[in-house]
Amino acid sequence: MKEITASAPAKCILTGEHSVVYGKPALVVALDLRAYVKATFNDKNKIIIEAKQFQKKTILPLKFSGDMRIIDEVIKPIYFAVLETFNMFNTTRGLTISINSNIPPSAGLGSSAAVSVATVKAVSEILGHSLKKEQISEIAFKSERIVHGNPSGIDNTIVAQGGGLIYEKGKFEKLKIPKDMNIIIGDTLKRRNTGVLVEKVRENYVKYTEVFENILEAMGKITLEARKHLEENKIPELGELMNINQGLLKALGVSNTEIENLIDATLKNGALGAKLTGAGGGGCIVALANKDKIESIMESINTSGGRAYLTKITCLGVKVE
Ligand code: MEV
Repeated sequence: MKEITASAPAKCILTGEHSVVYGKPALVVALDLRAYVKATFNDKNKIIIEAKQFQKKTILPLKFSGDMRIIDEVIKPIYFAVLETFNMFNTTRGLTISINSNIPPSAGLGSSAAVSVATVKAVSEILGHSLKKEQISEIAFKSERIVHGNPSGIDNTIVAQGGGLIYEKGKFEKLKIPKDMNIIIGDTLKRRNTGVLVEKVRENYVKYTEVFENILEAMGKITLEARKHLEENKIPELGELMNINQGLLKALGVSNTEIENLIDATLKNGALGAKLTGAGGGGCIVALANKDKIESIMESINTSGGRAYLTKITCLGVKVE
């Protein structure tokens, strides 16, 4: 029986989350953690979605009933990615979609974008179409908008493209990435919802518009400066800018004790810079360090109540396995 497996990477925003929603540039890279999506035809005229690691199996109709409540949070990005791909080709087919991901979910690493993008790739390929990365990203973005409210599009873009990008207002520029750069991720293990955090910043923005305008503007400037240091492999300077960015994210109201504890632990153990990555409110932090400090930094994350991952940037965006 015909089957297609596609995969897409995790993402890590080095600078510029939240301000990117307001049209400022952000610096983002793809990480070597991946989501795998297998698509096979079924003769039940249903979309069957299996996510083994969450012990979930859901059977859904080929057309959305309009009732969001019946769809599980983990399943939503996959289901809508399938439906949007059907829309693109003006067709429907009974499909079984199996997800296998090593990206922590709801943690700021783009897990939902990775499964959406990989789903669009697997479904379009099994339907006999080979889409460009940009087209896959666009379809996944439609599904992300249904699931997350008002996203900037940075997540679906980077996980489709891979590598490193400057992303601004729906457009991106590919970056030169230093070889062998280690990126330490610390998961606070506190799950949170991106849409809720974006909305929280929006409320504060409406209340203190002029103050927030200046903070968001400064975040955009940090990204432009950080880009130079990344491309020139000046990791200590990039780390300093990440620390400044973290101060501003705290000012926006999206940091919390769990995040600050992990950041403190990494900085005390020699990190060159550390900040939350993604929407904040929990989720993950990202830290940069010289090689000789990596082990102690990771240990400090694990002993401070988090879970450490050592990752590298991957140039592999969405692809068929
Ligand atoms: C999500 O990965 C980053 C945010 O900036 C939201 C977005 O850009 O859609 C918080």
